[in-house]
Amino acid sequence: MKYLIDSANAADIKKVLEYFPCEGVTTNPTIISREKGDLKNILKSIRNVIGDDMQMHAQVMADDCYGMVEDAKALADFIGGNVYIKLPANPEGLKACRELKKEGIGVTMTAIFSPQQALLAARAGADFVAPYVNKYDDVGDGVRLVGEIAQIYAQFGLETKILSASFRNVEQVTSVALAGSDFITLPPAFYEKLIWHPMTDLAVKGFEKDWYTVYEKSPKGLI
Ligand code: E4P
Repeated sequence: MKYLIDSANAADIKKVLEYFPCEGVTTNPTIISREKGDLKNILKSIRNVIGDDMQMHAQVMADDCYGMVEDAKALADFIGGNVYIKLPANPEGLKACRELKKEGIGVTMTAIFSPQQALLAARAGADFVAPYVNKYDDVGDGVRLVGEIAQIYAQFGLETKILSASFRNVEQVTSVALAGSDFITLPPAFYEKLIWHPMTDLAVKGFEKDWYTVYEKSPKGLI
């Protein structure tokens, strides 16, 4: 499973990328609206931080196929580089997905809450599907949803990637990795939770205590 950053804040994204091995950024209208700025400026500042090779997922706002395709083309043109346009998993989104794939534009079908939505998205040519794990936990089992999608894709040799979204705890993250999620997207603050463990801190403290009992402290470390 590979990691993406669920954020539209360029400074936060830059900080995460300094420390964590992520493949790109996902946004959605809610995440963009939190920045309270001009859409183009926000998208450009993210692209500047991540470069052209990293994935960038950005979502349409239109609610019919025609408008979605127009939004998608404008976003793809403007963002450039390795870009995927997020479309909602409904009939208009499915139709728009087929149109965009004819034109070679990358697509992520989002707000996936059932295996059938994921199967239809894959058959329509989507590059990614984004099941919402924690949100689905309110009415069902988000990890199981990811597992079922993975099983169906494997069974029929479908190459659409699963990009799991919406998490509340580290356990859910590990569970979707085991269930077969190809990618996961997490808000910047979540990354500290993934790497932190009290036993690691304890082990490091033990090394320090033993080392400095014998050797002098050097500001550079060993030498
Ligand atoms: C999808 O684009 C988002 O990652 C998802 O909606 C976030 O879900 P949350 O609001 O449960 O964190």
